Amino acid sequence: MSPNAYRGGTTNISPEELTLTTTDWSPPKQRRPGAHGVHSLDHFSLTVPDLAQAASFYRKFGLDVREDGETLGLHTDDRTHRWGSISEGAQKKLQYISFGVFADDLPWFRQHLDELGIVRLDPPSGADGSGIWFHDCDGLLLQIRVAEKSSPNEKSQTANPTSPPGRRWAPLRDSAAEVRPRRLQHVLVFTSDVSRSIDFYSRVLGLRLSDRSGEVAFMHGVHGSDHHLVAFAKSAGPGFHHCSWDVSSVHEVGLGAMQMADQGFQRGWGLGQHVLGSNYFHYVRDPWGSYCEYSCGMDFIPCDLDWPAENHNPRNGFYLWGPEPPRDFTTNFEVGN
Ligand SMILES: [Fe+2]
Repeated sequence: MSPNAYRGGTTNISPEELTLTTTDWSPPKQRRPGAHGVHSLDHFSLTVPDLAQAASFYRKFGLDVREDGETLGLHTDDRTHRWGSISEGAQKKLQYISFGVFADDLPWFRQHLDELGIVRLDPPSGADGSGIWFHDCDGLLLQIRVAEKSSPNEKSQTANPTSPPGRRWAPLRDSAAEVRPRRLQHVLVFTSDVSRSIDFYSRVLGLRLSDRSGEVAFMHGVHGSDHHLVAFAKSAGPGFHHCSWDVSSVHEVGLGAMQMADQGFQRGWGLGQHVLGSNYFHYVRDPWGSYCEYSCGMDFIPCDLDWPAENHNPRNGFYLWGPEPPRDFTTNFEVGN
């Protein structure tokens, strides 16, 4: 844990752990020796029916939306990394997911996929053609590419702002700063068979199961990542449920929700706290029935730790507190398109 890392808020941290001093800190490890596996969720790609509407939505959410020919790139401030790629199509549809690997791991992946008999595919037009392209067990297009590790190497720092006695901390509503997410945290996609997807992403990409709760499963990277960089939910077929963006405090989760509501995006779910991942959340419904999530405080799984995956009762595993989710929260609107 770094000197400035999150100090509390969960129920299973001992008082001793809460009093770590700077002498306890050492630089976080960035790789598990001898292990092969994707290190990051690199980016996702969607088509949507109205690119101008998409640019407006993601800008209001707090992202840096850059126009690149016929495509929108989703960025966060002060980072060159492109977290999302949005192009125009007949309807909203998940096009592909890209995962990052270390450069010296790519030859191993080429051989590994050959040994598994996985057919290589051509990249879609307009996409970065590097790396390896193939279908997952549900027909969803995947890319494995050499990339800088964008998953964190330590728990993301969070802080709940406050003020000393005698002073007001909260800004006046009109002067509250815009919420600007720090990075993409994870995506949740639909699959026709959750168990089969867990098996495929474990065997082929080297991801590990973090936890499962009925027909939802969460997976992390072996080289250190958030509790989940990708999650799966049962549906009739592939589809995009949400992308989740890391912010620095519960204050920003709530302020982000208000930021979007003030600009016409009142529908969503939150404020609440998940159990699996422990993150505070607010989901904003996008114009196509999927969601953008403000998230903070997610559990972190270091590269030298074997996380004990469990299968939890959905009533216990979904959320600790918060309002009831919308009735159609887990509807896959891409099925049949
Ligand atoms: Fe999420």
